[in-house]
Amino acid sequence: MYHKILTIFKGDTLLDCVLSQDLDIPHECGGNCACTTCMVEVLSGECYLTPMEPPERDRLDLEGQLQTGTRLACQALCISSQAVIELLTS
Ligand code: FES
Repeated sequence: MYHKILTIFKGDTLLDCVLSQDLDIPHECGGNCACTTCMVEVLSGECYLTPMEPPERDRLDLEGQLQTGTRLACQALCISSQAVIELLTS
């Protein structure tokens, strides 16, 4: 598990951002919302990310992981030109 503060840019997913900074995060389904290996906890900056859509919500719910701040990194896109996000990975 690691705690990280990342700068993210519009249109990038959290997964894109994490991988571009040479941080290791599993993403077994290749970013297709078909696993939960990319799950992260967003500690701050969630307002700069796209709201959760039904496929992400359903996937997290199926795994019993639907909680405030929990996102699938491959599904959360930055909607601000630039933002700082604080997260925890497992
Ligand atoms: S990589 Fe599988 S849901 Fe994100």
